[in-house]
Amino acid sequence: MEYLKFSLVFLSFFLFWNIFRNKSGTPTNWPLVGMLLPLLRNVNRIHDWVSEILETSQLSFLFKGPWFTNMEMLVTVDPANIHHIMTKNFSNYAKGTKFNEIFDVMGDGIFNVDFDLWKYHRSMAHTFIGHPQFRHFLVVKIQEKVEKGLIPVLDHAANERLVVDLQDIFARFTFDNICTLVMGHDVGSLSIDWPHVPFSKALDDVEEVILYRHIVPMSVWKVLRWFRIGKERKYKRAWEILDEFIYKCIAKKRAELGKNEVVGVDLLTLYMDKSQNVNVKDASDKFLRDTILSYFIAGRDTTSLALSWFFYLLIKNPRVVSKIRDELEKKMTKIDDFNNLVYLHGALCEALRLYPPVVFQAKGPTKPDTLPSGHEVNPNMQIIFSMYAMARMKSIWGNDCYEFKPERWISESGKIIHEPSYKFLVFNAGPRTCLGKDMAFTQMKVVAATIVKNYEFQALEGHLVVPDISIMLRMKYGLKVQVFKS
Ligand code: HEM
Repeated sequence: MEYLKFSLVFLSFFLFWNIFRNKSGTPTNWPLVGMLLPLLRNVNRIHDWVSEILETSQLSFLFKGPWFTNMEMLVTVDPANIHHIMTKNFSNYAKGTKFNEIFDVMGDGIFNVDFDLWKYHRSMAHTFIGHPQFRHFLVVKIQEKVEKGLIPVLDHAANERLVVDLQDIFARFTFDNICTLVMGHDVGSLSIDWPHVPFSKALDDVEEVILYRHIVPMSVWKVLRWFRIGKERKYKRAWEILDEFIYKCIAKKRAELGKNEVVGVDLLTLYMDKSQNVNVKDASDKFLRDTILSYFIAGRDTTSLALSWFFYLLIKNPRVVSKIRDELEKKMTKIDDFNNLVYLHGALCEALRLYPPVVFQAKGPTKPDTLPSGHEVNPNMQIIFSMYAMARMKSIWGNDCYEFKPERWISESGKIIHEPSYKFLVFNAGPRTCLGKDMAFTQMKVVAATIVKNYEFQALEGHLVVPDISIMLRMKYGLKVQVFKS
């Protein structure tokens, strides 16, 4: 009895101490469940919730999961920490084994590996994405897709006065585009028949479940995975669909190569074609599957979501639309002039800042370290950077950080201001910086210039635009608009 009383007094003291000492706005660390309850309560608005905590906790806070789950994460948006982890002390910070397990669907693709295997992937990807023939192929194919896919679909929507989901249109556009660039075949998902695309749906599903795997303790989701129930069942099914599609593409390409029918410079051909003289050590189906899946993930969602949020912001900011139109009239006489569009570039950077398609990043230290913010980190911890929250920190972007201001990116002399990547982390920083940044800007500028010049969008009244729960910043209900020709 005495023991029970003592335990109750101790527990009450512990609870009150935890609640009252917590002035910073970090969630209360409850006995047994740690910070899991406030996290679950806020899961539907997780990105805003994390932003609010970081604003009141000097840009970093320690998240503790339930006791005995070994779930400890330092969430940080402190540029000094990011610079330290991503660049200065890069060799100590891997994606880590937790990341590898959570993202298991990606296999040994570039996003999911570290050290020598990553270096190998990186040098291959660098060579092929930068290949002069591939770059030319890329620009030609983007323009072709705009003319033969995007314009006919938008014209149809305008003529028929249809309500369309712009997010879906951009996802189809980038999916067709990345299929062409990776495999040399356009799958034709962007058409007025709106064909069902199981592969795209499967990618959405794995990205959603991956976010849940960050929230639910590892031991719990592993049990669900073992029994193939709940979200893990959805994940497994999606994985099967992805594999089926990719292995078919590889088999088709092998057959074409065998018959010497291949003429393209798509990425799969470059990886398989021995005459390219590039040292691809492993061209097994599994290696190619992991490589290609990474390209699909990198190339489909990122650019399509960037375009979706960009047009969402334009609909709310007609002033910016007029300024882009002025610039297009003055500076764009032919399609190749998109590189001179400074204001459009600034507007795209500003949309990416506020709505980063890859919403957060994870790292794991290989050895204990002390971060510039003073936080001690060790190999049992994960470090999470929230790019969404970073844009909303007054101490980083100023008091107007919530505003959509393309001018933020343009100097007095009319040139683009290049912010350091540890402040503008949207394309990552340091040796693992995104390899598709130029490709993405080319795609976004061609699409944005074509649309702003020729169409106007009106948002559907009452339509709610909120981020979904996913590792990508997808709009939960899409972006429903009416299209008008201008
Ligand atoms: C707006 C568009 C894009 C954004 C915001 C973006 C963002 C990012 C981010 C945040 C990473 C780091 C991911 C991580 O390490 O977990 C990354 C890496 C990468 N991105 Fe992009 N990306 C975009 C478009 C593209 C495109 C079109 C491609 C080409 C297919 C591409 C290829 C890659 C590759 C290969 C990496 C891996 C780099 C490495 O680990 O060394 N990205 N990107």
